[in-house]
Amino acid sequence: MKNLKEKEIRDKIIILQTEINKAKQDYFQNDNPYLSDNEYDSLVERYKKLIKKFPSMIPENDKTLGIGSTVISSFNKVEHSSPLLSLANAFSSSDVENFDESIKRFLGKDLCSDIQYAVEPKIDGLSLSLRYNKGKLILASTRGDGKIGEDVTHNAKTISEIPHHISNAPDILEVRGEVYILKSDFIKLNQSQKMQNQKVFANPRNAAAGSLRQLNSEITASRPLRFFAYSLGEISHNLVDNQKDLIVLLQKYGFKTNEEFYFCNNLRELMAVYEDFNQKREKLDYDVDGLVYKVNDFSLQKRLGARSTSPRWAIAHKFKPEESFTKILSIEIQVGRTGTLSPVAKLDPVEIGGVMVSSATLHNEDFIKGFDSSGNKIREGVDIRVGDLVSIYRAGDVIPKIKSVSLSERGKDSTPYIFPKFCPDCGSIVRKENESSIRCYAGLSCKSQVIERIKHFVSKKAFSIDGFAEKQISQLYDLGWIQSPVDIFFLKKKHGHTSDLSIKSLDNWGEKSADKLFIAIEKSKKITLDKFIFSLGIRYVGEVVSSILAKYYEEWEVFCKKMENLSLKNNLALEELLNIDGIGLKSVNELRLFFSNNESLKIIHELPKFIEIEKFQLKNIQSSISNMSIVFTGTLETMSRSEAKSIAEKMGAKVSSTISSNTDLLISGDSAGSKLKKAKEKDIKVITENEWLDLIKK
Ligand code: IVH
Repeated sequence: MKNLKEKEIRDKIIILQTEINKAKQDYFQNDNPYLSDNEYDSLVERYKKLIKKFPSMIPENDKTLGIGSTVISSFNKVEHSSPLLSLANAFSSSDVENFDESIKRFLGKDLCSDIQYAVEPKIDGLSLSLRYNKGKLILASTRGDGKIGEDVTHNAKTISEIPHHISNAPDILEVRGEVYILKSDFIKLNQSQKMQNQKVFANPRNAAAGSLRQLNSEITASRPLRFFAYSLGEISHNLVDNQKDLIVLLQKYGFKTNEEFYFCNNLRELMAVYEDFNQKREKLDYDVDGLVYKVNDFSLQKRLGARSTSPRWAIAHKFKPEESFTKILSIEIQVGRTGTLSPVAKLDPVEIGGVMVSSATLHNEDFIKGFDSSGNKIREGVDIRVGDLVSIYRAGDVIPKIKSVSLSERGKDSTPYIFPKFCPDCGSIVRKENESSIRCYAGLSCKSQVIERIKHFVSKKAFSIDGFAEKQISQLYDLGWIQSPVDIFFLKKKHGHTSDLSIKSLDNWGEKSADKLFIAIEKSKKITLDKFIFSLGIRYVGEVVSSILAKYYEEWEVFCKKMENLSLKNNLALEELLNIDGIGLKSVNELRLFFSNNESLKIIHELPKFIEIEKFQLKNIQSSISNMSIVFTGTLETMSRSEAKSIAEKMGAKVSSTISSNTDLLISGDSAGSKLKKAKEKDIKVITENEWLDLIKK
């Protein structure tokens, strides 16, 4: 009899364990919880009671109540061998002309000469990088943030258009391309999802992304995913020297490439292909949002290199956006991170190019009144009012915009929109900051601004703290638990499970979700300098500027000290900052404001006490000029200034535009003037263009 009871208890423990572990797996790994937080908590409570009563029956190494051990993020992260860049956009033929011209300028070519381009459709899917080792597929990774992606190898292998083996491939070969779904397959997929009461996808791109990022490869296998290849990543030895030959090679390796491939000898031919393709794109069975123009010659591509997020040698020429008509139901004002009041039109929902749209940006007060930022008329000066029938368009992924207003449909009793004089959130008086933007200056006393700042602070490109969306931030703000980013790092201590004011006992929270948040916060504590600078949410200090600053100052302590000096009217620090290429006056002003504001100073002095800001690691480039601060002056005969700068940076040097006490080397071209004089006065090493060429050849 006793034995039977013991067995019953043991079985109960095992069943509870299994259920709890499954729930954890669904929650943490599959992002698909099937139990509510309450149900889960009650399971845990029952389990705790049982093992308290019968401690001798707990199996050894029981991890049921632990969290860390079973938590893994859904997909492993992988660092790309070279970044997966995005493409700059051209929206008009003059944008394309500028692109062609800037290439010639960079290369120091005659503006009347011709550049050859490869042209491919830009299919709207998601990019995938495939790594082959001795011809065997060993890794498939998504783009992620461009530098670090997710390992989706198992899923990619289920796509029939992705070869698992390639014969005669170089030892290391990375092929990059796009995973996508045909329009016809998309319709069928949604029909079947609907029948099974499953999620219906908004468009083929979402369907492709959702299908590739499945934790269960069988689901991916059941989806009609396709892949076309268009470029290379790392490769152990060079095989072809232009894009046209690459496409042929990729086909030889067994990849599908897009049959719509064109070769153009010059800008004029590009324009003709664009017009032709625009006519037929509707008939294609895949969504194309533009054409990609790529400089055909790889040696030119190499010289042109890349800006921070996109190559100089390619551009996406977008097709005219689709548009639809709908009514404005109301105009709302959103208060942004830096206090700017942004008007948004709430629309009667309407479909544009397969996506439902229910709001559109109205930019600012002038835009509503019918003027641009220079005071010129837009929409022939017609204002925008609640109740108006308007045409809405979407250009690429950007927020929908209003193109025109149908005046004939405007009601007699319609009245012009009056922009608020007070912040709709905190009630303080708002002021016009410049020609176009109106701001609330209440800073951290304005709820919207705090929430937006914290949202920015925890966002993917900053601290990347998952499980912390607007709803949760707002809830904790209302309770007074987070008022500044610093409070985030005290949440576990002050509001952990044993606290009387615990997060887990709040509405919509439970032990699991609170734990998940605590883990994410813990994980975020190590952060790279560029992400940390970005996280501060300073105006005009976005991703690119943050990266430039991190690269230049390398360490937080150094950067912070120099920025604080700015506010003391320290001319040296100011001059140094302004001399960094890519840092403009607008960013400098905002940095100065930020680092002289007591509220922000308190935050940036506190934060480093709990977190580790990693030193910026210049890629270990060993060259004769690595880590040097160099300046170019005069005219260079053999290359443009931009190319010289790009080469110097690739060799690990920092390029400044003026001579300072930090300058190590001046490269002096023809008719050099004051900089040369200054360098000589300061005893800075000066070399000629020929010496520079020798240096870079080495
Ligand atoms: S070339 C560095 N070619 O568009 C060159 N990209 O906004 C970047 N895309 O991330 C890629 N079709 O996912 C290239 N024929 C094509 C493409 C293409 C679609 C996607 C790709 C990329 C994004 C850039």
